[in-house]
Amino acid sequence: MVQLTLPRNSTVTEGKVWPKPEGATNLTEYRIYRWNPDEGRNPRVDTYFVDKDDCGPMVLDGLIYIKNKIDPTLTFRRSCREGICGSCAMNIDGTNTLACTKGTGEVAGDVVKIYPLPHMPVVKDLVPDLTRFYAQHRSIEPWLKTVTPAPEKEWRQSHEDRVKLDGLYECILCACCSTSCPSYWWNGDRYLGPAILLQAYRWLIDSRDEATGERLDDLEDPFRLYRCHTIMNCSQACPKGLNPAKAIAEIKKMMVERRV
Ligand code: SF4
Ligand code: SF4
Ligand code: FES
Repeated sequence: MVQLTLPRNSTVTEGKVWPKPEGATNLTEYRIYRWNPDEGRNPRVDTYFVDKDDCGPMVLDGLIYIKNKIDPTLTFRRSCREGICGSCAMNIDGTNTLACTKGTGEVAGDVVKIYPLPHMPVVKDLVPDLTRFYAQHRSIEPWLKTVTPAPEKEWRQSHEDRVKLDGLYECILCACCSTSCPSYWWNGDRYLGPAILLQAYRWLIDSRDEATGERLDDLEDPFRLYRCHTIMNCSQACPKGLNPAKAIAEIKKMMVERRV
């Protein structure tokens, strides 16, 4: 029988309201998902207040403020703080995005609500377990595959062929798209999801790669590729403005074209 309620131990409860910073008058309220596997308790949402006059403008600045000045146990990933590494991906204000490029001023309403990327196991607080996601990335063999002996200097590519990689090479593997895709939510163990398929397409159309047939064979599967139902959440979610749904459609087109 279908279970329509959350298991008791995953119901999110009200958490602690942390004290406001002393003397601060210009405040932003943050409500943040907290879960620590070592505590054996349900997840909760804690409330924090950040002094706007003592903090940068981005949501990541607020998280760093909280960790440094209020609650050092708050756990999240970040590295580059400029939209390059993809590690600060999380669900902010109901949308998967990068905390370092999302301004607190862009959040609708007065409260910044933050959860981990949806439908992934949680390691702790805002850190999702991306083990499967990375294994799926490895499975598409994201490197140049050739049979021709390597040239003495480098694999050359015309300007026109290089341009075909625009809109693909910029992917930072943040997983915002895959974790916004309903097909990936329900079939993430077998469906590769938009991020990995965009990466797969990036290698399929690289003029220097010599494994196109083999790569297509690997994707010719009712689950790995064809679970995409063109719902388009992925393209809306991408914080880099990429279009994984289009890349998936192009792969499907290549599949058809090689049959005729
Ligand atoms: S277009 Fe495909 S990959 Fe993108 S959200 Fe929809 S089903 Fe998922
Ligand atoms: S396509 Fe966009 S949302 Fe998806 S992993 Fe790449 S950068 Fe992130
Ligand atoms: S910290 Fe690197 S993308 Fe946000």
